[in-house]
Amino acid sequence: MADNTGTIRMGMIGAGWIAQDHKRVLGSLAEAELVAVCDLDNERAEALASGTGARTYQDWLDLLDDLAPLLAGQQIGLLLGTSIGPTQSRPWFVDMRAGGGNLLERGSHHLDLARTVAGEVASVQTAAGRVRLARSGGEGGDIDDALTMMLELTSGALATIVVGWTKPGQPGHYGLDIVASDATLRLALDPDFTLTGVSAGQPVDKRAASQPMERSMSRFLRAVRERDPAAVVCTPPDAAATLAVAIAAERALEVSRAVPVYAS
Ligand SMILES: NC(=O)c1ccc[n+]([C@@H]2O[C@H](COP(=O)([O-])OP(=O)(O)OC[C@H]3O[C@@H](n4cnc5c(N)ncnc54)[C@H](O)[C@@H]3O)[C@@H](O)[C@H]2O)c1
Repeated sequence: MADNTGTIRMGMIGAGWIAQDHKRVLGSLAEAELVAVCDLDNERAEALASGTGARTYQDWLDLLDDLAPLLAGQQIGLLLGTSIGPTQSRPWFVDMRAGGGNLLERGSHHLDLARTVAGEVASVQTAAGRVRLARSGGEGGDIDDALTMMLELTSGALATIVVGWTKPGQPGHYGLDIVASDATLRLALDPDFTLTGVSAGQPVDKRAASQPMERSMSRFLRAVRERDPAAVVCTPPDAAATLAVAIAAERALEVSRAVPVYAS
């Protein structure tokens, strides 16, 4: 909500690990101010709010680019997404029922990316490895550390997504390779965010102008300022469509065969 100086007043629900990043990004944006923080754990809410003047709450109810032109006119045939690297182990993250494991928590980003680049998903197959990469055998949790998902898109294209959770300190590998009728492109994700390759016989060498989390926060603030729900890049129905693919992928793991996606 914008005040009469035009500053957008933001509230955050959940004051955990990722909220620290959101607070840092918000702090760098002159147009926004953190005014409320909500967490079931009041100490966490207070810690996140410190230095900002934000009010704290314990119940959230109290707290009221650029790929498309390069591929225009082309048919995408193949995607290969990789999300391999360490991430913080939170109690719910290692509990499949609570957090959805690496498939939902990390793989969903790539499911979303595949839909954004190449369109809707018709069916999905999933396999999980049995080797523990990120934890020793005695450590708790029931999630799979390594997963592969194979998506059949409604366009007829194929996408493979590989997710691997590794030990802290091991180098990460995050990216998407795109093979189209007249293009071979590599999107490198984190920390560099570059797009390289060849499209229609021309070399492609692009670098994101700003950090994606910063950009998505700025876009969200713009949508709020302009009261324009259409300016929100990922709408709730879009998020639900990605969730439908993730749910089909979970089901595919249970039944060991391809599962159709019914996005509503
Ligand atoms: N988009 C991304 O790149 C990205 C990265 C990391 C996490 N996430 C998502 O962000 C969310 C938070 O992740 P995290 O790593 O910060 O987890 P976390 O466990 O470190 O923190 C979550 C916080 O939310 C609080 N909380 C839980 N239920 C609440 C409720 N009903 N009301 C208020 N507070 C509540 C908890 O007490 C905890 O402090 C998760 O959904 C995760 O999937 C997204």
